[in-house]
Amino acid sequence: MPQKNTAGQNAYLVALQHGLQSDWEVEDSLAELAELASDAGLNVVETIVQRRSEPEPGTFIGSGKALEIAEMLDENSIVIFDDELTPSQQGNLSDHMDAPVIDRTQLILDIFAQRARSNEGKIQVELAQLNYLLPRLTGQGQALSRLGGGIGTRGPGETKLETDRRRIRKRISDLRRELEKIRQTRSLQRRSREERSVPVVALVGYTNAGKSTLLRALTGSDVFVADQLFATLDPTIRRWDLTEGRWAYLTDTVGFIRKLPHTLVAAFQATLEEVVYADLLLHVIDASHPRSREQKEAVEEVLREIGAAQPVIAVYNKVDLVDHPLEVREPDVAVSAVTGHNLGRLTEVVYEFFAKSYSIREYLFPFSELGTASMLRANSTVLGEEFTAEGLWMKAEVDTRLEMLLRPFEK
Ligand code: GTP
Repeated sequence: MPQKNTAGQNAYLVALQHGLQSDWEVEDSLAELAELASDAGLNVVETIVQRRSEPEPGTFIGSGKALEIAEMLDENSIVIFDDELTPSQQGNLSDHMDAPVIDRTQLILDIFAQRARSNEGKIQVELAQLNYLLPRLTGQGQALSRLGGGIGTRGPGETKLETDRRRIRKRISDLRRELEKIRQTRSLQRRSREERSVPVVALVGYTNAGKSTLLRALTGSDVFVADQLFATLDPTIRRWDLTEGRWAYLTDTVGFIRKLPHTLVAAFQATLEEVVYADLLLHVIDASHPRSREQKEAVEEVLREIGAAQPVIAVYNKVDLVDHPLEVREPDVAVSAVTGHNLGRLTEVVYEFFAKSYSIREYLFPFSELGTASMLRANSTVLGEEFTAEGLWMKAEVDTRLEMLLRPFEK
């Protein structure tokens, strides 16, 4: 799918303050939208807040305000709404403004499309884009085409609409099938990890909190890191050596964000699946961010939504940018992924977390059971082994599952 090219366009950001929303809530959300927009290569020139008791069904902000904004625009402008617009609102607004009108969801999708690297990530993004586009096909062709490039932005003529819709539906079902295949392969890989009884730790956290940097610092691997939101769209999984021969799988996940539309949460289910299957979550928090508490809460909410019920250790990152000492309660840790501050402590905390469920056992395997002995070797930390007249003696640190399985061989 071709990349969109929104670079250089002048973006006008619009938010509606309604109901009980406070000033700072709206400002904060707009600041984040501005960050997203510049991340997509747009120049943010103006932010506009409209106050109403509730959204106007036809034009969201009211047609008077829409015309007022239209006055500010030139042919290189794009208008971005901070909330999700209905297809008809989007159509009406772009008629009023004679400029492309998109919403936060579409902007996030655009960024996702630029960032996805793996085959799976690309399919997920395209699926989300097509699902978003389908109800918006009528009358939006023109406005979307001005965004340039990309599916749904080619501006189908009205006469072709029905054929286009059919083609899109077909493409959606093809992509779903392809995704299902990838997921099956993945669940096989996951099962083989489970069989090895190596724990899985997942990094979760608000976008830009420093998850990829931390993954790289802890595992020494060369993971893509960028000062861009959503640099991580594809799950990455690395080996993390804890202490004394014990190790864990460490996996990165897509960054969470406030107002992440539900359709997107579903679209990125695959990365979040890693979260659901992990044994432990490390919640990475950007301690230097002025709204770190709100970001933390937003992540906790998404975790509840996707049904993640594992233990969570909070990792307060970027302490090198904080000028006062951070008080955190054990087992939470304050670290800097960049300077390496306290990463040893973090590894220790995670080691201790898993060590609790391990015990040291001695076994004697008769010569006919050497296969079982190799299974133990592959799945535990072996502390000693020796051939005796009766068979192979082994001393190993095992988890509860292995302990039960190998009870018949215990000495
Ligand atoms: P998403 O992919 O958007 O979810 O981001 P992420 O959480 O993976 O963040 P990433 O690791 O890409 O880091 C974002 C930015 O923060 C990069 O510019 C990092 O260099 C910077 N960063 C990460 N950790 C630290 C830290 O401990 N200190 C400082 N000063 N900067 C950090």
